[in-house]
Amino acid sequence: MKIVAFAASNSSQSINRALASYAAHLVPEAEVDLLDLNDFEMPIFSEDRERESGQPPAAGAFLARIAAADALVISYAEHNGSFSVAYKNVVDWASRISRKVFQQKPTLMLAASPGAGGAASVLALAERSAPSMGAEVTGTVSVPRFHDHFDLASGQAVDGEPVRRVKAAVEVLSATVAGAGQRRAGRGSHG
Ligand SMILES: Cc1cc2nc3c(=O)[nH]c(=O)nc-3n(C[C@H](O)[C@H](O)[C@H](O)COP(=O)(O)O)c2cc1C
Repeated sequence: MKIVAFAASNSSQSINRALASYAAHLVPEAEVDLLDLNDFEMPIFSEDRERESGQPPAAGAFLARIAAADALVISYAEHNGSFSVAYKNVVDWASRISRKVFQQKPTLMLAASPGAGGAASVLALAERSAPSMGAEVTGTVSVPRFHDHFDLASGQAVDGEPVRRVKAAVEVLSATVAGAGQRRAGRGSHG
């Protein structure tokens, strides 16, 4: 099972990157492709720039990495109640090539913050925009006070209710992907 995971953040110290990686590696027999949005940095999207220069190759490269996935794990950083600029820019460029950026992949949406809010505002925004972005959301989990629940140095969970909710949501994602695989196999064997 190929899982594409990434943080909707471009911070080298991203707690959401740690969370996305942790959750993706919980999927049984997962082959994890951990994307770094810094590898898809592009000029700020503008329609004028698009007319003048077309799509930067990174936009297509991002879509290709998503296309190769059986499922997605995205963990959202919250900047002023919304998406980070880094995430929004990649998605805006990519959406001009293919509006359903997430290509109907089963998607676990996570969000973490160091404070009490757990980046819940951006997570709600992500969930609300999921249908138009082509993400089939299998679950959402907000992790407040990230550093109480995870050890950033090791990338491992410490404990607590948010960790249990992440594990439960990963089980739902895994079961969804396994079920889809079985249905495909069943159709194949019956012609
Ligand atoms: C410009 C900026 C705005 C922020 N706004 C919020 C916010 O609205 N809500 C929140 O919970 N945290 C906010 N934070 C703190 C982030 O939750 C924190 O930096 C977190 O580590 C971001 O996730 P990341 O480490 O994955 O990049 C903000 C941080 C920055 C740099």
